[in-house]
Amino acid sequence: MAKIKVTETVLRDAHQSLIATRMPIEDMLPILPKMDKVGFYSAEVWGGATFDSCLRFLNEDPWERLRTIRKEMPNTKLQMLFRGQNMLGYRHYADDVLEYFVQKSVANGIDIIRIFDALNDIRNLKTAIAAAKKEGAHAQVAISFTLGDVFTDEYYANYAKQCEEEGADSICIKDMAALLTPYRTVDLVKAVKSAVKIPVQLHTHFTSGLADMCLLKGIENGLDMIDTSMSPLALGTSHAPTESMVAALQGTEYDTGLDLVLLNEIRDYFMTLRKKYIDSGLLDPKMLATDTNALMYQVPGGMLSNLLSQLKQAGKEDKFVEVLKEVPKVREDSGMPPLVTPTSQIVGTQAVFNIINGERYKTVTKEFKGLVKGEYGKTPVPISKEFQDKILKGEEPITCRPADLIAPELDKLREECAEWVEQDEDVLSYAMFPKVAPKFFESRRNKKYGIDGAHSNAETKVHPV
Ligand code: CO
Repeated sequence: MAKIKVTETVLRDAHQSLIATRMPIEDMLPILPKMDKVGFYSAEVWGGATFDSCLRFLNEDPWERLRTIRKEMPNTKLQMLFRGQNMLGYRHYADDVLEYFVQKSVANGIDIIRIFDALNDIRNLKTAIAAAKKEGAHAQVAISFTLGDVFTDEYYANYAKQCEEEGADSICIKDMAALLTPYRTVDLVKAVKSAVKIPVQLHTHFTSGLADMCLLKGIENGLDMIDTSMSPLALGTSHAPTESMVAALQGTEYDTGLDLVLLNEIRDYFMTLRKKYIDSGLLDPKMLATDTNALMYQVPGGMLSNLLSQLKQAGKEDKFVEVLKEVPKVREDSGMPPLVTPTSQIVGTQAVFNIINGERYKTVTKEFKGLVKGEYGKTPVPISKEFQDKILKGEEPITCRPADLIAPELDKLREECAEWVEQDEDVLSYAMFPKVAPKFFESRRNKKYGIDGAHSNAETKVHPV
């Protein structure tokens, strides 16, 4: 009997999608023991933007957060989102940094690493898959789903097969921009399921109001696992509600086996959080509304708000629709990358420049040039020679795996951050966010001296917060 497994995302993607990843560990702590009793297949709790948000906005050590959740949820598999060779940062890293990151993630409590590449370039996943397996973690590869002529069911089935051959333990269809419709899901899930023997999971967002229908159609056609979120932080740009999916499947051959009474107790807790976030303005109720524009613009929700804020800064808010129309053009020029971190930012920012300047590619960002050059890997569609010449101005494109050109860098990073290090993992925080992490380290140091009461004045002078 098929039994559907549930990954609960409220501690990572749900708050990343609704409140810009601002849920601090204090808001999670009271409910973790109860969540641990549910029997979720896994809880997604780390990676994605959580690491960045901890250091940049919450003044929280992301590693400490992981250890705390591990301690409070000893019976649940903990899952993280990992951007392949970009890891949790925004550039490609050398293999030695990646291997060390994976080693430390597993050592601090991660069981399942969901690895994806923005360009679906399998070469960018090799090291991460191998590292996860070496550490005894489950290596799940997420396929970045997008729309376009080249992105047929066969394309995804082929890529899924490559991932399985590379050692993936399971596949996730990652519909980060909520572009799936229920009947496309039927065909896609069938195609991917028939291409691989490993389990297949679906990750989709509720933005256009179709997520639960997509999950249900996927389940009927062979899905093994689904991503959902506890209802108070579900819907809108987040996920389908956990309790509703559990109720929908109860008593059928797809029963999740999860206890609705217990889930409703957990719901009560998250309802108080939801109210707190709405009252403080952190959660804009607009985010909870359905918006089928997502299907037209084909850009992830986070990218829409980024574009709007970039335009506001330039005083060009009125150009928003023009920029949205420019995005598909820039995407086509640059080889049809799926729009997900970091390609969503790269393509979006270039579209903003094209419109603000009133001329295409008059200003070319360093990152966009990198994308055209092949620094992020192979694009789904080859970029025309003519366009490459125009953007690269004589520089040779890269055709190998980009990380092959990056020399080992862990030792150098260790030297650079030596003065702040208090735990082995600090070098990895520094590697991901070399500008932000030192500020966190200093504040941590000051806090420590403040609490100890020793040398606090001297320290404050040397290291002002
Ligand atoms: Co997501």
